Amino acid sequence: MPKIFITRPIPEAGLKILHDKGYEVVVNEAALERAATQEEMIAVLQQAQGEGKPFDALLSVLTDQITVEVIDAGLPTLKVIANYAVGFDNVDVGAAKQKGVMVTNTPGVLTDTVAEHTFALVLSIAHRIAEADRFSRADKYKAWGPELLLGTDVSGKTLGVLGLGRIGSRVAYHAVKGFGMKVLYYDPKQNPDFEKEYGAVYVSNVDELLPQCDFVSIHVPLLDSTRHFINEERFKKMKPSAYLINTSRGPIVDEKALAAALKNGVIRGAAIDVFEYEPEITPELKKLENIILTPHIASATRETRNKMAELAATNIIEALEGRTPPNLIK
Ligand code: GLV
Ligand code: GLV
Repeated sequence: MPKIFITRPIPEAGLKILHDKGYEVVVNEAALERAATQEEMIAVLQQAQGEGKPFDALLSVLTDQITVEVIDAGLPTLKVIANYAVGFDNVDVGAAKQKGVMVTNTPGVLTDTVAEHTFALVLSIAHRIAEADRFSRADKYKAWGPELLLGTDVSGKTLGVLGLGRIGSRVAYHAVKGFGMKVLYYDPKQNPDFEKEYGAVYVSNVDELLPQCDFVSIHVPLLDSTRHFINEERFKKMKPSAYLINTSRGPIVDEKALAAALKNGVIRGAAIDVFEYEPEITPELKKLENIILTPHIASATRETRNKMAELAATNIIEALEGRTPPNLIK
């Protein structure tokens, strides 16, 4: 029977599918509230080889660094790495491919949830929700005031979407349909159908997009070319009244430059779900009132996490039964 190593406890919905197949499933229960270490993953994979009962599949999560060493520890039996995330910057896909190991992700099922979280951040930072909550809890609410905690309207403003994939498109949908926003987008590819449907405008040069936006939301994958995509120079291109939203990957924003931009009024605010040195957060950010920080939970609803677990399990089954898994990374 195929044997599956799952690096962190995942929702039962995914485990059930694998158990129903009769697969042997080993869950690294020790990594419930922390990331699995590379040493730990390598040791489990190698020990199984040594005992003559090696693993056929690895179900990884985004906190796992699936390096060539981890992949090698699973060879020659390892056939598929199913990453429980839409992003897969944590997996050395090139090395996996070269060694004949398939890599899959979980796109689609989390699009709505991440777009909702993104919009929750847009509304919360503009209406100063987190700051107002802190204010209320600290017993600072002494009297209603005409100028108390004034925020910014979202309706009718301009949103810049960086990366028009599934999530970026869904965020644009909420912006246009829900709040009558104007959408500008930057992407390597222009999308005329999207432009027609949403009245959106393509801006091929990000430096020309930034000065026009009241909100900028990042939805690009983490690649060498997108690391520090938003840096000191680009903050200076933004309006002083603008807000930056990031639910993609932390290293796409230079976090030190972000702290400086917020502190010095280069931009008005930010709301971010991902951090450059996750789970560490640049200490300066935590001292600022004009930023909302959420701990990489944009896809964290019960429904969506169940679906991600089911999809990762399905990708494993398809790969091990000799079919092309639905979310094979090519
Ligand atoms: C979460 O960040 C994901 O990539 O699914
Ligand atoms: C991810 O699902 C994306 O394409 O935005």
